[in-house]
Amino acid sequence: MCGIVGYVGRQKAAAIMLEGLKRLEYRGYDSAGLAVLQNNGLTLVKCIGRVAALAKLASGKKLTGTCGISHTRWATHGGVTDANAHPHVSSDGQIALVHNGVIENYVHMKRFLLEKGYTFKSETDTEVLANLIAYHYAKQPEPAVNGEGSRFLEAVRKTLLHVEGTYGIAVLSPAHPGELVAARKGSPLILGVGDHEHLIASDVSALVSRTQNVVYLKDGELVHVTPAGFTLSTLDLADVSPVIDQVTWSVDEAELGEHPHFMRKEIFEQPLALENAMRGRFSADGSSANFGGLNLTPADFRTIDRFVFTSCGTGWHACLVAEHLIERFARIPVEVDYASEFRYRNAPLDRDALFFVISQSGETIDTLAALREAKRKGYKCMAICNVVGSTIAREADGGIYQHAGPEIGVASTKAFTSQLLIAAMFALYVARMRDMSFADGVEYVAGLKAVPDLARRVLEQAPHIQQIALRYAKYNDFLFLGRLSLFPIALEGALKLKEISYIHAEGYPAAEMKHGPIALISDQCPSVFLVPKGELFNKVLSSMQEIKARKGLIIAIVPECLDLPEGLADEVITIPDCHEAALPVLATIPVQLLSYYIAVARGCDVDKPRNLAKSVTVE
Ligand code: AGP
Repeated sequence: MCGIVGYVGRQKAAAIMLEGLKRLEYRGYDSAGLAVLQNNGLTLVKCIGRVAALAKLASGKKLTGTCGISHTRWATHGGVTDANAHPHVSSDGQIALVHNGVIENYVHMKRFLLEKGYTFKSETDTEVLANLIAYHYAKQPEPAVNGEGSRFLEAVRKTLLHVEGTYGIAVLSPAHPGELVAARKGSPLILGVGDHEHLIASDVSALVSRTQNVVYLKDGELVHVTPAGFTLSTLDLADVSPVIDQVTWSVDEAELGEHPHFMRKEIFEQPLALENAMRGRFSADGSSANFGGLNLTPADFRTIDRFVFTSCGTGWHACLVAEHLIERFARIPVEVDYASEFRYRNAPLDRDALFFVISQSGETIDTLAALREAKRKGYKCMAICNVVGSTIAREADGGIYQHAGPEIGVASTKAFTSQLLIAAMFALYVARMRDMSFADGVEYVAGLKAVPDLARRVLEQAPHIQQIALRYAKYNDFLFLGRLSLFPIALEGALKLKEISYIHAEGYPAAEMKHGPIALISDQCPSVFLVPKGELFNKVLSSMQEIKARKGLIIAIVPECLDLPEGLADEVITIPDCHEAALPVLATIPVQLLSYYIAVARGCDVDKPRNLAKSVTVE
């Protein structure tokens, strides 16, 4: 949710942190702030609004310090005010801190600190942490046994032993110029290892312009950082040998280029993302798929009698498509659950179930908790994940990386279609271990290999879809209707429209419409139909007739081989004919474009929709 950037090195920290914050802004964007150590003290700048507002405010100050922390906020405790923006400083001025997460026992700790004479300026849980570190710092023996740095580190460590909840934090102290302490539990945090400089950040996008070398902190780890080096330890004082990973993508991939929005860029990157999802993943005989990262043998798969898929939001829609495809082609039962529900409902699972989570970011807290719950029960857990090195990717027993490249737009687009394609490949993989024939497998593989080019053909219709969007942007209610594998795409279409244009939209199985939602139909509530081929085509035509009979407007997304009766749909968007397993991918692109162009026509900030953040790292 919130974004953190910290810097210690030889350059001016503020400029570097502002650049990092700009790249992290998709994590939260209601307020921003920074603190740098300079002139033997702490300079603090923070304000409500975007990073641009902070940069403007900072430009009026002389920020020359080479050690600092910074933050973009997505409010949890306390409203959007300057006072609630981070960094927060302890009332004795000794500690400044930025935080991503939620401190659950802050009320109790605040009472304790008030009794000790500490005071508070904000309504946040975070300020409690700053004061509690200051309290432990003041109590440390002086001079410290192992040097001044360890006194600072020790105060942070002691504080964190009392914390219930989640945190990624970066802390500095005017008494310790050139030092940062950072720690994590439940919220992502990464150390960037540069040339005589180190950075702390919530995700790699904030670091890649300065270094490709990163250390992914684990829960319960603290790092003490100076320009010259860093030491990693755990809350219970064990030393940790750091593993330095290489980030594989470059800073250019996270730039807008010629596009006005990241969402548009990412929609148009889908053919490439789809190619990358398939690269090297088909068997040599062209009849099946390979997934080396699952760490399971065909014999392991023979014992599996059920798959359980969990995720949140858009990823959950990908789970529904996986359910359809696996059950349809491999004939193995699949259960789909919201991760946020799974973690609490103590679901009974089959003895030989294989558990999957889907997460673009790999940091969604509910999905991570579901994964941990399943592992606690002894199940093997796989992850379909886009962000390499993310917490979910690291904690899973195996998995499939999406290789879709960085997704910055808050509304997930290329990551979703890449998940759908991976689901289709996985369905093939298990189907070929069961009853699917070699010939059917070859046809299926050919069908999937064609998808990137077919996606390019759908994208060529962008100007046509834009014209439709201009005509329909004035409506405030939409229905999205589909059947079987297109029902999840109806849900996804409704979610996309809701999140970026604030239009009320609902997704339904087309036949369910007459059991209630049809009451919404009027000439003010358009319906977007995802029309299938095959036996359900005529059934969906009947649903369309029922809408037309009630003066409803219809936008139909139709495979090009099908002819709709003249005048039934008000607008038609065609998609190329394709293999059944590829249909959800191709049908998604028009609903993404429609939502995007409607949101732009309504003047919405599509990359940073109100109240949302890219990766939801609090419950
Ligand atoms: C997608 O458009 C949404 N912003 C949201 O539903 C998202 O898919 C969800 O929060 C899960 O994120 P994840 O894939 O990073 O776990």
